[in-house]
Amino acid sequence: MPANIVLGAQWGDEGKGKAIDQLAPDSTWAVRFQGGNNAGHTIVFGDTTLKLHQIPSGVTSMDCNLVLGDGMVIDPWVLEEELERWFSLTEERPEGNRLFISERASVILPFHRLYDSADKIVGTTGRGIGPAYRDRIERVGIRFCDISGVISDMDKISNITIRMNKQLDSVGVSERITPESLKSDLQWILDRYPNTIRHTGLMIDSALQNGEQILLEGAQGAMLDIDQGTYPFVTSSVTSRANATHGAGIHPGHVEQCFGITKAYTTRVGNGPFPSELSLNGGPGQHMAEVGHEYGTTTGRPRRTGWLDMVALCDAHRFNGYTGLVVTKLDVLGGLDEIKICVGYDFDGEVIKYFPSTSDEVARCKPIYETHDGFPSLSDEEWISMADRSRSEGIGYAAMPDKVRHIVERIEFLSGISVVSVGVGPDRKASIAKIGGPFDVRSE
Ligand code: GDP
Ligand code: IMO
Ligand code: MG
Repeated sequence: MPANIVLGAQWGDEGKGKAIDQLAPDSTWAVRFQGGNNAGHTIVFGDTTLKLHQIPSGVTSMDCNLVLGDGMVIDPWVLEEELERWFSLTEERPEGNRLFISERASVILPFHRLYDSADKIVGTTGRGIGPAYRDRIERVGIRFCDISGVISDMDKISNITIRMNKQLDSVGVSERITPESLKSDLQWILDRYPNTIRHTGLMIDSALQNGEQILLEGAQGAMLDIDQGTYPFVTSSVTSRANATHGAGIHPGHVEQCFGITKAYTTRVGNGPFPSELSLNGGPGQHMAEVGHEYGTTTGRPRRTGWLDMVALCDAHRFNGYTGLVVTKLDVLGGLDEIKICVGYDFDGEVIKYFPSTSDEVARCKPIYETHDGFPSLSDEEWISMADRSRSEGIGYAAMPDKVRHIVERIEFLSGISVVSVGVGPDRKASIAKIGGPFDVRSE
C-alpha cells in the first residue's frame, strides 16, 4: 500500500485537519513531516472540536499510529499540553504506544520562542519555528537524539547558553538562558517521553514494506513554502510535496495520491502580499471572516480574507502536482449576491498568470476577476443533510443545487485538477465526495 499526502494549497488553514481525519480510518500511520506548533489543525465531530498543533490529525482513528517526523521542529512542552488535553478527552496515552517522535526532529527550546518574539516583519506565530530551523541549518541545533549527549557535557551546555544569550542580546530580548535551566529542560524531555523518541523513518519504511497505508500530513500551505512561497513572508520549511516523503524519512516513489486542500475563497494570517484581499470592514470580506469564523487556530489573530485566487492555486499545482483537490468552506459563501474568482493579475499593465518572485512585485499585482451568481445561505444542518443525501443515494455532486455545483465545476475547469471532495461545514460529515473518488468511501 502506498503513501498519500495532504497539503495546504494556499496560505494555510485550508482545512487539512478535517481531510486527514476523514482519510485516517483507512491508514495505519499519520505522519507530520515539517513545521511545528505554528500549525493549528481543527477536527470537528458532533459536539467535539479538537485543535491540534503537533499531534497528527489521524489521532482520532485509534488504529492509526502517529509520527512527528524527521523534518519537524517540535516544542515538547506544547506537545505535553496537547497530550494532556487528549488524555482528558479519551483517557488514552498514545506517547510511546502509538505516537512517536523522530529522533532526527529538532527541539524547540525556550530560547527559540524568545528569539522569535523579536520578529517585527513577517508576523510569525511566535512559536520559535524560524529560530529552531535556523539552528538546524547552521548545524548547531539540538535534535531529540542529541539530548543525552548534550546533557552529559557541561562544556557543551555552557557554550550553547553563551551563544543563545549573545543572540538574544543582539535582537534586544532581555531574558537569559542559564546552563542549569538548559540542562534541566533537556532532562525533562528525556523523562517525559520515554519509549517515544525513535528512528521513525525505519518504522514507516517497514510499515510500507508490510503493505500498510501511510498518510503524510502537511502543515501551513504552498504559498508559505520557504522556496516557492511569497518570500520573505513565509514559514521556515518546505511545505510542499517534494518534502513530504523526505521529512518522513521515506522515498518519493511510495507516493500515490497528493491532495491539495483549498478554501473556496482565500485567507492569510500574518504579513505579506495578498492580491485578492478584501476589506474586513463590510462586504464579502467581512462576510467570509464572520461566517467562516476566520481567526487563527494557533494565535487567535483575525485572518485576512479574499476571493479564491486561481493564480496562486495553479502556481501551487505547478510545484505540487496535486492528484486531487479538496475544496472546503463552500458553505461560507452562501448568502453572497455574487462570487468572484481571480483568474489573472494585471501587473503594471500586463496580464500575467504566475506569481512574480518578489513580494514587492506580488504586491503590485491587481486581481482580474470572473463573476458568478451567488447562492442562498443554508444552516449547518441543511448542508449536512445535503451531504448525507449525497452519500446515502450515491449521487455525489448531484446533491448540490446548480449554482453551488457550478462553482465547483468552475474551480475544476480553471485549475485542471479533479475536485474530489467539497466541504460544506466544519463537521467531518459535512463533505460531499465525488462519486468513485478517494473520499467516496464512508456511507455509514
Ligand atoms: P488547517 O490548518 O488546514 O487544518 O485548518 P484550520 O483548522 O486552521 O482552519 C480551518 C477551519 O475551517 C477550522 O475551524 C475547521 O473546523 C473549519 N472547516 C474546515 N472545513 C470546513 C468547511 O467545509 N466548512 C466550514 N464552514 N468550516 C470548515
Ligand atoms: P496551518 O498548518 C496559517 C504563517 C504565520 C506567518 C508565517 C511565518 O494551521 O495551516 P512562522 O511562525 O511559521 O515562522 O510564521 O506563516 N503561518 C501560518 N498561517 N496557518 C498555519 O499553519 C501557519 N503557520 C505559519 O502567520 O505569516
Ligand atoms: Mg490551521
